[in-house]
Amino acid sequence: MNFLLTGGLGYIGSHTAAVLQQAGHHVVLLDNLSNSRLEVADRIGRITGTRPVTEVGDVLDTIRVRMALRHYRIDAVVHFAGLKAVGESVAQPLAYYHNNVAGTVSLLQAMAAEGVRSLVFSSSATVYGQPQYLPLDESHPTSATNPYGRTKLHIEQMLHDLAASDATWRIAILRYFNPVGAHASGLLGEDPNGIPNNLMPYIARVAAGQLPHLNVWGNDYPTPDGTGIRDYLHVMDLAEGHRAALEHLQRTTTPCDVFNLGTGRGTSVLEMVRTFEQATGQSVPYRIAPRRPGDVAECWADPTKAQRVLGWRAERSLHDMCASTWAFTAGQRSAPAPHILAV
Ligand code: NAD
Ligand code: UD1
Repeated sequence: MNFLLTGGLGYIGSHTAAVLQQAGHHVVLLDNLSNSRLEVADRIGRITGTRPVTEVGDVLDTIRVRMALRHYRIDAVVHFAGLKAVGESVAQPLAYYHNNVAGTVSLLQAMAAEGVRSLVFSSSATVYGQPQYLPLDESHPTSATNPYGRTKLHIEQMLHDLAASDATWRIAILRYFNPVGAHASGLLGEDPNGIPNNLMPYIARVAAGQLPHLNVWGNDYPTPDGTGIRDYLHVMDLAEGHRAALEHLQRTTTPCDVFNLGTGRGTSVLEMVRTFEQATGQSVPYRIAPRRPGDVAECWADPTKAQRVLGWRAERSLHDMCASTWAFTAGQRSAPAPHILAV
């Protein structure tokens, strides 16, 4: 089948593109390069044997999206394109509403006009807000504590409204927990600009000697070791979850449905540090620091709906998440400059 991946050069999109191509599908990547590089398409090509068709463009450009949908005879869209930094969303809310919410309106208008009504959308466990019970299932109440989270909630609501207005839509909303890790080739991974906010890329930079130590944001949470607990899932498992969701859309009669993608296991910050050290042989010095505002103590998924309906479950271990992150990080440090890799 033919799939359009908006934001397809990004962290999750690039891994998903590789998985879909290796499953025999054709993918077209549409990305405005705001948080990615064209060289990623070359790397997907090195992994799969086929460089994916890549359109440098913006989802806000409705005509451009329509042309891509028509020209490449797209069957379904996976909508990754979005801005995702919580702190930045507080400082620049309009940029987030414009890019994420208006960008999705533009994409949906293009899809409706071209008669493409199958969509997989990247949502986030952040829509659950402060957990009222654990594990988090899809019927847990939703709320948002920052503009980024609110864009995801607005988009989810919009997708439900659209499906209610026209039952021929087939929409899967995927709520990701904490994606980490990298492709086994070491060619794809997460490489954030500047100082990372998220735990795994920060640990990798400390291990690489690029940052002096990890700040552990709080060790006085009501958890066994006092540090925050999250549901980390391997980005390759997540990529396979998108494949399962796309296949599900072909057979379902439900216009719009929501799925948690997580492992169902919680891991603390200190457990993650220890596992990273064991998996890589690198040391990760850390210091205990005050809690980060807005953090919750614990968050993990009930992933049973995805297992039951999509036939998908996360398989890869925490050890693999750490080892693959390190292989990618170490490879980046020794890689030639991007223009040399580009063809
Ligand atoms: P990413 O920043 O690596 O990828 C997003 C891609 O979208 C980038 O390549 C960027 O250049 C592109 N993009 C942004 N705005 C665009 C626009 N208007 N038009 C075209 N391209 C545009 O992020 P990611 O981690 O791969 O996340 C993908 C999606 O998953 C995002 O919507 C994000 O909110 C969501 N998500 C991510 C996480 C996570 O921890 N990484 C967790 C939950 C949800
Ligand atoms: C964060 C975002 C969330 C987003 C998710 C994407 C915030 C408040 N939340 O969630 O909206 O959907 O990323 O993956 O930014 N930690 C440290 N030191 C660090 C970094 C993190 O101790 O330098 C701890 C955190 O306190 C937390 C855990 O590690 O307990 C995971 O943090 P992080 O990777 O930022 O993810 P989330 O907080 O789950």
